[in-house]
Amino acid sequence: MTTNPALLDFQIVPNASPMPEAERLAAFENLGFGTLFTDHMAVVHWHVDKGWHSPEVSARKPFQIDPAASVLHYAQEIFEGMKAYKGADGRITLFRPEENARRFNKSAERMAMPDVPEELFLKAVEELVKIDAKWVPEGEGSLYLRPFMFASEAFLGVRPSREYIFCVIASPVGPYFKGGSKPVTLWVSEHYTRAAPGGTGAAKCGGNYAASLLAQKEAASRGCDQVVFLDAAEHKWIEELGGMNVFFVMDDNTVVTPPLSGTILPGITRASIIKLANENGLKVVERPYSFDEWMADARSGKLREAFACGTAAVVAAIGTVRHPGGEFVIGNAGTGIETEKLRNQLTGIQRGSVADVNGWVKEVTRV
Ligand code: PLP
Ligand code: COI
Repeated sequence: MTTNPALLDFQIVPNASPMPEAERLAAFENLGFGTLFTDHMAVVHWHVDKGWHSPEVSARKPFQIDPAASVLHYAQEIFEGMKAYKGADGRITLFRPEENARRFNKSAERMAMPDVPEELFLKAVEELVKIDAKWVPEGEGSLYLRPFMFASEAFLGVRPSREYIFCVIASPVGPYFKGGSKPVTLWVSEHYTRAAPGGTGAAKCGGNYAASLLAQKEAASRGCDQVVFLDAAEHKWIEELGGMNVFFVMDDNTVVTPPLSGTILPGITRASIIKLANENGLKVVERPYSFDEWMADARSGKLREAFACGTAAVVAAIGTVRHPGGEFVIGNAGTGIETEKLRNQLTGIQRGSVADVNGWVKEVTRV
């Protein structure tokens, strides 16, 4: 379906009081994750009678929404996570942005929300990156982009909203984990699960993350960085972390990752790593992998490396795994050779220092 060209014609209203240059550069000195925001945001409205309308990029500001807006009561909300990178040559690029647009619409379908035409999604992201191009950090940092959509109709009955707001905001970020690229420690949740068959695990909806917070709190209280969720039916199979997919590198050069069974998020980093690992001569097997097998393989040395991956976390080596019965380490608890290689390849492609043979990188602008 082609999109009405008028819909892609964003009204651009520059922020009249952007953050002063010196303040922005000072904030860039110590980038964490998701606390600093750019000067603008992209907003598009949807109404059941009008469809998508009024695309605009303007100063980032709070929304005014009715206290009865259905997102506040029934959590009809979805989001995406993607990044803009600045290469050494000043090119500002996105990594596989069409995949985010497609996944956004799969999430929308699952949450009974309207489809956002792919061109509209991409245009909103690109217009925001262009106007806030100076906010894309150099070096290791990147501009994290957060497209999201929520139900804005004031109505307390339980049914899909008749009004939505689609918005994109941007945040210059450094590493997701406080320890930077140091291996992470994981907590295996015995009690809480993230997603059940038939549920919303494969959708990127806010509710999944709300449901993970108590488990994440438990993990933090055990000194862990992230939670590993097991499957809801048998509490046996490894699914994913609260915000990342997982990979296991074996001593026979096979790499195991849990299959896309409908309960885990189909990560774009996951798909890219599968492709790169296969190109590196590793054999990637998407199959159920149990917690017992994980423990046994780590102890026997069959498991050489494990890592988590996602847009925010990039590729994070897993050093130690804690669970209610004790803990175990993977390899020498450091970053494994294949993990390091995959991380360098992925980040190299994203930043333009490694050839993009798969056509994953899309230039938005140059500075
Ligand atoms: N799994 C969950 C639950 C996530 O929130 C994310 C992050 O977006 C991922 C996996 C990784 O997905 P991607 O690689 O597309 O960022
Ligand atoms: C992302 O990686 O983009 C996510 O949405 C995950 C979250 C942990 C920030």
